[in-house]
Amino acid sequence: MSTFYVTTPIYYVNARPHLGHAYTTIVADTLKRFHKLIGSDARMLTGTDEHGDKIVKAAAKENKSPKEFVDAISAEFNALWKDLKIDYDQFIRTTDEDHKKSVQALLQRIYDKGDIYYGEYGGHYCFGCERFYTEKELEDGLCPQHKTKPEYISEKNYFFKMSKYQDWLKQYILDNPDFIRPERYKNEVLAMLEGNVLEDLCISRPKSRLEWGIELPFDKDYVCYVWFDALANYISALGWGNSDDLSKFDKYWPAEHLVAKDILKPHGIFWPTMLKAADLPVYKHLNVHGYWLVKDTKMSKSLGNVVDPRFASEHFGLDAFRYFLLRDMHFGSDASYSEEGLISRINSDLSNDLGNLFSRVLSMNAKYFAKEVPALGELSEEDEQIFASVDTAAQNYIQLFKEVRFSYALDGLWEPIRLMNKYVDSQAPWTLYKEGKTERLATVIRVLLENMYKIAVLLYPVMPESSQKMQAQLGKEFSLHEKLIDDLMSCKVHLRTGAVISDSSNRFPQFEKTAENREEKKDDKKDGKKNQKKDNAPKTEENAGSGLIEFADFQKLDLRVGTILNAEQHPDADKLLRFDVDLGEEKPRQIISGIAEFFKPSELIGHKVVVVANLPPRKLRGLVSHGMILTAEKDDHLSLLTSSAPNGSKIS
Ligand code: MSP
Repeated sequence: MSTFYVTTPIYYVNARPHLGHAYTTIVADTLKRFHKLIGSDARMLTGTDEHGDKIVKAAAKENKSPKEFVDAISAEFNALWKDLKIDYDQFIRTTDEDHKKSVQALLQRIYDKGDIYYGEYGGHYCFGCERFYTEKELEDGLCPQHKTKPEYISEKNYFFKMSKYQDWLKQYILDNPDFIRPERYKNEVLAMLEGNVLEDLCISRPKSRLEWGIELPFDKDYVCYVWFDALANYISALGWGNSDDLSKFDKYWPAEHLVAKDILKPHGIFWPTMLKAADLPVYKHLNVHGYWLVKDTKMSKSLGNVVDPRFASEHFGLDAFRYFLLRDMHFGSDASYSEEGLISRINSDLSNDLGNLFSRVLSMNAKYFAKEVPALGELSEEDEQIFASVDTAAQNYIQLFKEVRFSYALDGLWEPIRLMNKYVDSQAPWTLYKEGKTERLATVIRVLLENMYKIAVLLYPVMPESSQKMQAQLGKEFSLHEKLIDDLMSCKVHLRTGAVISDSSNRFPQFEKTAENREEKKDDKKDGKKNQKKDNAPKTEENAGSGLIEFADFQKLDLRVGTILNAEQHPDADKLLRFDVDLGEEKPRQIISGIAEFFKPSELIGHKVVVVANLPPRKLRGLVSHGMILTAEKDDHLSLLTSSAPNGSKIS
């Protein structure tokens, strides 16, 4: 069985987790699930980076010892991953004893090889970055990151001969073009290596200045530089350097690393040269993504614009939130986060396309085949097209996932989903039913159910819970096994004819409220009286007789979206048509409408309409009407009001 090992950066514990951290961790979880889906033994590592100056300072600010402080924030990261149902195998902390042993083993190995030496160094030290800057790297004499003046420090320290590996690294990157991906980051690293610019790396800090770190095995007056310590987590987690049992390391190393562009240099340059110096294989790929921005600015605690991933996932649903993150960020580029963007992605892709498909097809199957999976008959060209489009999209999806191009993968998978919705409209199962063409009707529904199943399985890495629920709705129990994807891709039929399946689905409700509206709603809930006052407000003098209505009056209207399943002439009235409209309720409603002179009944079947759903039933020439279809009129031209929202959506 092939293996797969994915890692996140280990996060600093000087700040609380936010959307940026959650994104990388959700991507790692998605990749792990994807590789399990395609039959690998997949493993995921995350954790916290707990040594260094930054942590000591943050702890002092809260009057805590470094240990107390790191324990508390590390636990917060861990708790968030539990709430976000991250399926990690290991949570490593750099204060773990095993990790310390590994770092010391790595240092000793490189030292013994002669690649670590002791020397005097004077340089511009930025305490924020915990590193020395050369004159050339400073911008107007200031740290390029923090815009503060670094302190000039001259002291004796240990250095790793990184410059020795510059040519090797450059050649390695050129020989393995997707070692660092997407390409722009490979080019950035190559630019850093242009000319003979790589200097040796200072890897120690005197204890007189910093005690909170791992002691050098060859000099007890020094602790290890925090980046050298942190990068080693990826192998210490597999037991390298701290255990005689190297089976995990042999099985899972080399890794797929995930990072954002802020930490490209340590991962693109320090880490591969460290591994090379220790005679260890380098990682498989460094996968680098961009930043989540809020209103064009990087999220940061100091700007107060950090997004809380726990709130977003609780409010909008964890799977919908995951889908949005993977779909809206093109891996490698920056992306903007806004609740409006999230809502519109949920409404269009999840509710209108995927959710609507499941809801329509399952309710038709319940109505036409008493919830039993119907038999597949002879396939028409249109049916074959549906199978082919799902197969092509599935193959691309798998390939693009391997290349960490999630947004393109999902975009491609939505093509057959939209095509299937159109296929429902063009095949018009309601007409086949009416005309008694049961065999053809069965085939159409079965084509849809089989392809919906494939899509549900493929969505497992992105929306694990929804994927399993959708499969359950189709009568299938999900279990990962080595041949799952091969089986899925190699045949058309996976469901059992005659199996009883769900009669409805409402997995992805619409969100119509903006953030501001939600806040208002919360206030109204808190303040019941305020709400009541609004509803019962006396008609103001300005409004009386002006044709204006109170908001409360408008709120009384129950406007719903529905699909016309049947339309026919009223048997006893020329001007009236009789409709069966699916409003997402248990059974379609009969509605009688006086629009016969404007439309042919057959033209209206399958159309989406807006219905006033709370009018009292009314008899029109012997037939009871349970609502009213809304139309718009201008210059004697009548059109139907329409909406692409799923059946039953409430208009407000
Ligand atoms: N401790 C180091 C990493 C050591 S790994 C051996 C560190 N920690 S960090 O807490 O600052 O985490 C940085 C990482 O958090 C980024 O590389 C990225 O994975 C994630 N993100 C933090 N803010 C982010 C955004 N605004 N957008 C996307 N990801 C971001 O660096």
